[in-house]
Amino acid sequence: MIAKLDAIGEQVLKEISAAASLEALEQVRVSVLGKKGALSEVLKGLGSVGPEERPRIGAAANEWKRKIEDALEVRKGALEAAALDARLQSERLDVSLPSRLPHRGTLHPVTQATRRIVEILARLGFDVMTGPEIETEFLNFDAVNIPADHPARDMQDTFFMGPGVLLRTHTSSVQMRAMRSQSWPVRILCPGAVYRCDSDATHSPMFHQVEGLWVDRGVKMSDLKGVLSCLARELFGAEAKIRLRPSYFPFVEPGAEVDVSCFQCKGAPKAGCRICKGTGWLEILGAGMVHPRLLEMAGFREPGLTGFAFGMGVERIAMLLHEIPDLRLMFQGDVRFLKQF
Ligand code: DAH
Repeated sequence: MIAKLDAIGEQVLKEISAAASLEALEQVRVSVLGKKGALSEVLKGLGSVGPEERPRIGAAANEWKRKIEDALEVRKGALEAAALDARLQSERLDVSLPSRLPHRGTLHPVTQATRRIVEILARLGFDVMTGPEIETEFLNFDAVNIPADHPARDMQDTFFMGPGVLLRTHTSSVQMRAMRSQSWPVRILCPGAVYRCDSDATHSPMFHQVEGLWVDRGVKMSDLKGVLSCLARELFGAEAKIRLRPSYFPFVEPGAEVDVSCFQCKGAPKAGCRICKGTGWLEILGAGMVHPRLLEMAGFREPGLTGFAFGMGVERIAMLLHEIPDLRLMFQGDVRFLKQF
């Protein structure tokens, strides 16, 4: 019987040291010390042994039980330590990992272009002035030489808010505000939203303009050209040139449409150019010498007082700069579009 006990004991010790998990260890424990375990089974046979043998076998069995319990305890400690190690490894925080960046918004391309235009012209001495988007019919039209029956009113489909009140159709509406609120010299820029009843791939019912006005003694068309050349070079690159094409705007005389040389073709127009459609030029704004009637209405009677004005669509500039194909993308608020700028 002693030999049997020894065989069981040796076998169990091997199994204990081979147990790879706490569950496996528990199984070993039950298989030997449990009610139906191997050791218990042997001890059940103790009754059939002679009384003189019993104490010896009992002592040997207890000895094995103690050894096995000790071995179980030791193995359990080792397995628990390994499990803790594994957990610590898997839960380890790598504090050297760069943190996840907070989501950062970007400025809208229209805001960026407006700021750029203003920043360039501010260097030439223009002050920013704003005017209301809900404007009087008088300041939007009459005061810039577009009387009620003037056909030019049809050029700008107008949202009327009520009799004599409208959503301004252009930032030229601030020209008279500027001239009436200060004496000359007047040198202002007015960025802001304007509204027209119009909507397609190149027109939006709301868009943005920047208006410029410079009134002083002896201001000449060449000054206008100088200012606009500077603006074009700063916006489109050092090689950018401008050209003025005679055109009509009621508030200026003479008036011109201003083109900038295509920044893609760079002076050598290419037939298939996506930007200028092979013409070599891009229309960017309207401008001209302030109509004498406006100066008169503003009460500027000083001899030799002249001025120039210009107005441009900011979306158009932003679309050219970024090659944006459709104006409507600007107003859809799609972050996939907006975060590119
Ligand atoms: N107000 C014009 C428009 O919205 C743009 C413009 C043209 C403004 C000529 C000017 C100018 O000041 O001189 O189409």
